[in-house]
Amino acid sequence: MMIGNDPHSCFRRGHARTTHIQWTIEPDFGAQTLGNATAIHTFDKRGMTALDTWMLDICRVFDANTGDPISYTLGKHHPVKGSMLSFVVPVGKVVGIEYKTTSGAKGLQWFTPEQAGGMPFAYAQGEAISARSYIPCQDTPSVKARLDGDITVPEALCGLIAAPVHNGRVVENGKARESWSVPYPIPSYLIVFAAGDLASRDISPTMRVWGHLDIVDAAAYEFAPMTDFMKAGEALYGPYPYGRCDILVLPPMFPYGGMENLIIFVTPALLAGDRSSVGTIAHEMAHGWYGNHVTNADWQSFFINEGFTVAAENEIMEAVMGRDHAQLGLRLLQLEFEDDCERFKREGRYYLTALCSDISKLNPDSIFSRVSYFKSCQLLRLLKNLGGEERYNQILRTYIDRFGYGSISTAELLAFIREEFGDEVYETARVDEWVYKPGYPDNAPAISSPLIDEVEAFARKGELPPSQGNWVMPQWQLYLEMLPRPVTADFAAELDRTFGLSNFKNVEVRWSFLVLAARAGYGAVLPETEEFLYAFGRMKYAKPLYEALILSGRRDVAERIFAKARLAYHPVTASTVEEVFARTA
Ligand code: BES
Ligand code: ZN
Repeated sequence: MMIGNDPHSCFRRGHARTTHIQWTIEPDFGAQTLGNATAIHTFDKRGMTALDTWMLDICRVFDANTGDPISYTLGKHHPVKGSMLSFVVPVGKVVGIEYKTTSGAKGLQWFTPEQAGGMPFAYAQGEAISARSYIPCQDTPSVKARLDGDITVPEALCGLIAAPVHNGRVVENGKARESWSVPYPIPSYLIVFAAGDLASRDISPTMRVWGHLDIVDAAAYEFAPMTDFMKAGEALYGPYPYGRCDILVLPPMFPYGGMENLIIFVTPALLAGDRSSVGTIAHEMAHGWYGNHVTNADWQSFFINEGFTVAAENEIMEAVMGRDHAQLGLRLLQLEFEDDCERFKREGRYYLTALCSDISKLNPDSIFSRVSYFKSCQLLRLLKNLGGEERYNQILRTYIDRFGYGSISTAELLAFIREEFGDEVYETARVDEWVYKPGYPDNAPAISSPLIDEVEAFARKGELPPSQGNWVMPQWQLYLEMLPRPVTADFAAELDRTFGLSNFKNVEVRWSFLVLAARAGYGAVLPETEEFLYAFGRMKYAKPLYEALILSGRRDVAERIFAKARLAYHPVTASTVEEVFARTA
């Protein structure tokens, strides 16, 4: 499918390619490793191949048909890619690797019983290129393989592999072995597990939420609208490709809002009690079609995954919540996008505001921004306007039929757009400029809603909101994000006094306020800010909050908090915050 090689992987065209993985793991909560893990790869042919690894201990490589050892080489460590494990695939085409993870497993996060409410907890995060730190694999989204997995945990715990099929749980000698199947080809970054003290609740015959007993009922209530999202999504894009759509609520240190694993992983910050953060579920569900089924072939095409998904999320929200509400969500995303563009400009990296640029030397995680989300969604909305809604919807169906189960590169996407929409639409839209040039083209579609206007009227003038009660949550957030910054400490104080924002139940709103307050130098809410930074490890929250503290002259406070908080942060959050400190030094 793909034309070039993925620069973030050592897999090369011509190599034997993995078509199936049989994965066996047993988390060792004491040592915080996968101590005795095996990955058995089935390849499409014999001959030379290579797998990506990151700080793995390779114990043995063997012919899984005969049991004979296979000789291999483990290359030297590369700072972005890790080390290449290469060998020759034998006649039977099945090769097993026995390995251990190490403390360098950047894709794993471990929690002690004290940190996780009485029982230990562990989970994996694969996207973008961290799967190789807990499973040796062709860690490029241009290779997709089926997966069967067994996870063994202490009997008191549950072991999940993110898969739509659960084959069962067998308890023996105080241990439970749970086996799972993904009978569809998936990219390596979706290979993840979670293990801990989990309960589940069914939302529908094909939807279930998992989470700690303390929150699982709240989660079932919060995410109930997902049945409507599913109906809307299937009406637009055809049958959901995976049969089931389950969700796991992770501990608050999870570095993302959500992750589209085949059991969707989400932050507990979504549990606002009023379903006001459920849009994230629409987003992760939309990845079922866009990202998981049709997958970006490399990380410089990441905008393909997120752009189609945000566009779909927006259409689903529009179908379920109405256009006014959906437009509000886009406007909020636009503000994040604008912040990212300004930051890239400040840092002398404005080229990263192009949808597709040369990132071959960089770690995709270190350049994560809303460019891939907002700008590419706007390009798709533009194509929808120019091509007409009916034609656009047909083209989406063609896209799913043609590229489903496979991967697509930027060049292939552009050829597809030209072919389906025609030269005229392609040129009028200026697709090449959107994709390859930095900045935000002037033919972007408008975003408008009376819900936006209501807020802007007050925010632009830096006035307090009219009265409490009648704004929906995203309006509060928009208001806070739109106030000309920095506001004065007095203004922040008055906002907090009147509306109780520093203790708001909706985490997004509370976070927006804390950032605003930090930037304003409003010291009274420092305890709340500190508490927030200890409680949540989501990157989106941590990065701007530390940055705001630093910019308002409280670098010492930021450093003190981070020194303690980082012990509980996921490696990707810790390194992102470290970068904030480095770039502002
Ligand atoms: N796939 C992403 C999360 C991701 C991206 C993880 C890149 C690692 C590398 C997920 O679908 C996502 O976009 N999450 C958003 C949710 C939001 C847009 C509703 C997030 O976490 O902010
Ligand atoms: Zn996404």
